[in-house]
Amino acid sequence: MSTISEYTASIFSLEGKTALVTGGATGIGYMIAHALVSAGAKVYIASRKFAACQQAADNLADLPGSCIPFGADLSSETGVVSLAEFIAANEPALHILVNNSGRSWGAAFAQFPWQAWEDIMTLNVTAPFTLIRELTSLLAASGTANDPSRVINIGSIMGMEPHGFPAYSYSASKAAIHHITRFLSNELAAKHITVNAIAPGPFPSGMTEFFIQDEKLTSAVTQGVPLGRLGRPEDFAGLILCLCGISGAYISGAIIPLDGGMNSARTLGLEQGIE
Ligand SMILES: NC(=O)c1ccc[n+]([C@@H]2O[C@H](COP(=O)([O-])OP(=O)(O)OC[C@H]3O[C@@H](n4cnc5c(N)ncnc54)[C@H](OP(=O)(O)O)[C@@H]3O)[C@@H](O)[C@H]2O)c1
Repeated sequence: MSTISEYTASIFSLEGKTALVTGGATGIGYMIAHALVSAGAKVYIASRKFAACQQAADNLADLPGSCIPFGADLSSETGVVSLAEFIAANEPALHILVNNSGRSWGAAFAQFPWQAWEDIMTLNVTAPFTLIRELTSLLAASGTANDPSRVINIGSIMGMEPHGFPAYSYSASKAAIHHITRFLSNELAAKHITVNAIAPGPFPSGMTEFFIQDEKLTSAVTQGVPLGRLGRPEDFAGLILCLCGISGAYISGAIIPLDGGMNSARTLGLEQGIE
């Protein structure tokens, strides 16, 4: 790219790029898929509910890129491998992988169930790690020194600092995916693949419905956000396009908070509302 003005004209274009977003039919995954399709990418979205993925793809049909739904349960190695095989059967290369599917579990310390460790760690850590492993050759096929392919893991501010809410396995899983992000950014750099994580603060979604529907809890959460509000789809779109466009070619191994300043604040303010 010869001049800064040519560069800025195309900085967020994803024309000709292919992406996979897990959990892309709802919440943050849909915000991400929406941004990528708007920027011209061909985006596969995958999660357990095929009908929800189909509906999301239909909603994005009039945008410059395209969206292809796929039904995949990522809570087992078989499910992860079949998603990777589906992508490999349809694409010679993959430019962008967003590991967004995830779940949480909140319970008091004394009663915290064993299964809530296994299920959360499997979906939030083992699945994204395995999906990256299974898709490495397709990602390497598209990455170049000037424009590497991109892996983005969706972590959480809960994986950075203790924030009060008793989601023990969830917080540990998000700290783990942040660490795996740094680890793999070293491992995969030679293949021209960047690996970063976004650590969101509170965004409206199925996962946060329990406090969004309660005015008192929502107000407690927003009070804990220095910028005084919940995240919006536009906030996600801006960071995703920055990382996936040519603007993100030299960013790797970063854990980027997207949280209205919460990373340096002490609590989510949810302690009063959780049994
Ligand atoms: N919202 C927030 O405030 C917030 C803050 C920090 C981090 N995050 C992270 O953002 C990511 C998205 O969460 P969200 O807030 O947008 O909640 P969400 O709308 O509930 O999204 C979770 C997604 O994961 C998918 N999923 C769940 N189990 C799955 C499985 N076994 N296999 C494949 N996909 C599965 C769900 O689709 P199906 O049900 O169709 O499978 C859904 O699309 C998660 O990693 C979450 O930890 C969210």
